[in-house]
Amino acid sequence: MELVRAKDYNDMSRKAANVISAQVILKPNSVLGLATGDTPKGTYLQLAEWQKKGDCSFAKVSSYNLDEYVGLTPDHEQSYHYFMRKNFFDLVDIDLANTHVPDGAATDVEQACVDYDRIVAEAGYPDLQLLGIGRNGHIGFNEPDDHFARGTHVVDLTESTIEANSRLFDSVDEVPRQAVSMGIQTIMYARRILILASGEDKAQAVRDMVYGLITPQVPASILQLHPNCTVIADEAALSLC
Ligand code: PGA
Repeated sequence: MELVRAKDYNDMSRKAANVISAQVILKPNSVLGLATGDTPKGTYLQLAEWQKKGDCSFAKVSSYNLDEYVGLTPDHEQSYHYFMRKNFFDLVDIDLANTHVPDGAATDVEQACVDYDRIVAEAGYPDLQLLGIGRNGHIGFNEPDDHFARGTHVVDLTESTIEANSRLFDSVDEVPRQAVSMGIQTIMYARRILILASGEDKAQAVRDMVYGLITPQVPASILQLHPNCTVIADEAALSLC
């Protein structure tokens, strides 16, 4: 694991955007694995700025997102489909037809999980997978558990994740209790992983991920085994390292 120290959120975002823009400059038809949440927003904004200036392009990129809430349709303002359009897809030159987010609103969600694994495999898996980390060490919606989930699957969200994500909903009761998430195996198939962390509330999770035991109780700890994983974290997130 390579650890890159950033000063603050903006510095982390800029460094992460540099890695992603280099990826798409060197390989214009890159397959990107993308993440939602507050952490990557600044990275997406920086990339959009550079794309507008003509420094990089996403015209030939295809993307596969990590997760989606069960029961939320793409036009729901708290859905991850909506998040991606608002925070990235609508800001850059990516072809929407080449973007993919798990279908949490499918009538048969289990089948949608199988289908998602198939299309990610057919795409050859991400050249670069962008990740955030939850306060409990989750990646995607792979929550602490007694085993590592392999493929895309339906997850029961933990109370701490529901609580953390309730800030984006009118009330905690509106937060869906389940999500669809890419599994750990699919994430590990990415050729390069870039995981970002900002803020003191991520400090324990970052320490456990980088220096702790490799355990499904800290899903991000599996990344210690990835051959090409870069952590970019700011001073606050590294305060326990
Ligand atoms: P955040 O979420 O970027 O909103 O902190 C990260 C995560 O829970 O994976």
